Amino acid sequence: MLFSALLLVFMANADEIGDARKRWAESPHGPLLERILPPTFEATQLPEPGSPGARLTIGYCVQCHNLANPAMHNAARWPSVVERMVKRMAGRGNLGGVMSEMMAGVKAPSAEETRTIVAYLRKHAQTPLDPARYPEVNAPAGEAFRLACSQCHVLPDPQRHSVAEWRAVVARMQENMEWMNRVVGTKPVPGEPQLRVEEILAFLEKHARR
Ligand code: HEC
Ligand code: HEC
Repeated sequence: MLFSALLLVFMANADEIGDARKRWAESPHGPLLERILPPTFEATQLPEPGSPGARLTIGYCVQCHNLANPAMHNAARWPSVVERMVKRMAGRGNLGGVMSEMMAGVKAPSAEETRTIVAYLRKHAQTPLDPARYPEVNAPAGEAFRLACSQCHVLPDPQRHSVAEWRAVVARMQENMEWMNRVVGTKPVPGEPQLRVEEILAFLEKHARR
């Protein structure tokens, strides 16, 4: 009984995501919207699946782009990101042209629902690196990591992952960088600093969870 109820929740979500994705992916702005967030994070990976927070996040946050991982941003950051998104859903955001063409089918959360989404994202947020604990981050040994890994979100706490996990995460972040920096049809920005992966990994591995 519980299982079938859960299954129904997942199936409803899968439909919702499929429908939403189809709407934006097939819009003339699909290629741009597709690149806003990478397709690395699936609804089934959301923490506390089936909770009101997870359900609302799926219901509202896949209407224009791929699903965001709650662990992408730290707790302090999420309220302002969600506020920017809700304004857009309500038709008051920037990117007016692109967004208003899509607005027809887009629904916005109520104030109460917005609070639930923000609380949910904050609960499962990234723990930021504390520079007092890792002063090396501001030394030359931390430079490659500091510059590369603070472009899209705060620097993550190295204790979040083991050495083996960090290798996989950094490889995925390289894909995320390619995905998010490149709008289909354009070339990567020339003169962009090279990613010093070995130095980044050396820093993370030194301070990783044992
Ligand atoms: C009406 C369309 C729309 C909806 C719905 C939407 N977003 Fe966005 N989102 C955008 C656009 C456009 C951008 C790129 C511009 C920007 O970053 O503001 C974006 C960018 C993002 C980014 C990457 C930029 C950053 O600050 O990290 C995240 C994360 C994000 N959205 C999370 C969410 C969450 C969480 C929700 C649900 C509460 C959501 N979005 C709902 C349009 C939308
Ligand atoms: C181009 C933007 C971008 C850059 C640059 C970036 N990230 Fe991320 N990061 C993301 C996105 C998007 C997510 C959420 C989706 C995901 O987890 O793949 C994320 C999530 C994370 C998470 C939380 C999820 C987890 O698996 O623990 C960690 C930790 C992380 N990034 C570490 C890093 C590190 C280390 C670097 C530098 C090598 C880095 N990021 C650079 C975009 C970026």
